[in-house]
Amino acid sequence: MKIIMLGAPGAGKGTQAKMLAGKYNIPHISTGDIFRSNIKNGTELGKKAKEYMDQGMLVPDELTVDLVIDRVQNEDCKNGYILDGFPRTIPQAEALTKALSERNEKIDAAVDVEVPDEAIVTRMSGRRACVSCGATYHIVHNPTKTPGICDACGEKLILRDDDKPETVQKRLTVYHEQTQPLIDYYKGLGVLVSVDGTKDLNDVFSDICAILEK
Ligand code: AP5
Repeated sequence: MKIIMLGAPGAGKGTQAKMLAGKYNIPHISTGDIFRSNIKNGTELGKKAKEYMDQGMLVPDELTVDLVIDRVQNEDCKNGYILDGFPRTIPQAEALTKALSERNEKIDAAVDVEVPDEAIVTRMSGRRACVSCGATYHIVHNPTKTPGICDACGEKLILRDDDKPETVQKRLTVYHEQTQPLIDYYKGLGVLVSVDGTKDLNDVFSDICAILEK
């Protein structure tokens, strides 16, 4: 199963992608996590990506597309994968469609997690992330057992630099301009499904699974 997660920043794409990856035993590929790991390790890609991410802007397509197209050709992707945060622009989506069609493959579902902008800003201020293993929590909706410590790996949690309210606002603007058009793109390909992302995260997960297994 090849799945794309769509939705505004903070809609819950990463949360749902991790749950789906666990259920279907396929890799969760998050471009945001890949960039954050490169930033943490001080790589050239990380240095370039950080300039854009800290301002709430998208990392240029030329730094992003090949990275993902190479990644989905890895052996662990042979039974499918979940793309979280990619594609984010029409050129990225077209590059993915082209690369897949050259191998007689296609995306099975693009899942749009719908959450209004007003709810996003509140959500982001409560998000806590683990840069070590990529786990994501929320101080109210999905708290850790010990405050500030990752349940999965025991590392300290952080408030992401790009989760400050002014940067979130910029990311929302960029989302509406550059990423929202993908909803029509995948509708046109006949693979778009939408879920109400304002429900409890377990209910959102059940809704997505019900659609995928129909
Ligand atoms: P990325 O890391 O992909 O960020 P994003 O898309 O902005 O999404 P987020 O990770 O912020 O949110 P999410 O939807 O995954 O929500 P989450 O599950 O964490 O990208 C970061 C940056 O990298 C971009 O701004 C860009 O610069 C760059 N980048 C990445 N990919 C790129 C690309 N392809 N091209 C160019 N640039 C790229 O949930 C949010 C919070 O809400 C959590 O605390 C969670 O616990 C909580 N929550 C989740 N679901 C619920 C629920 N149902 N109810 C209540 N709370 C919930």
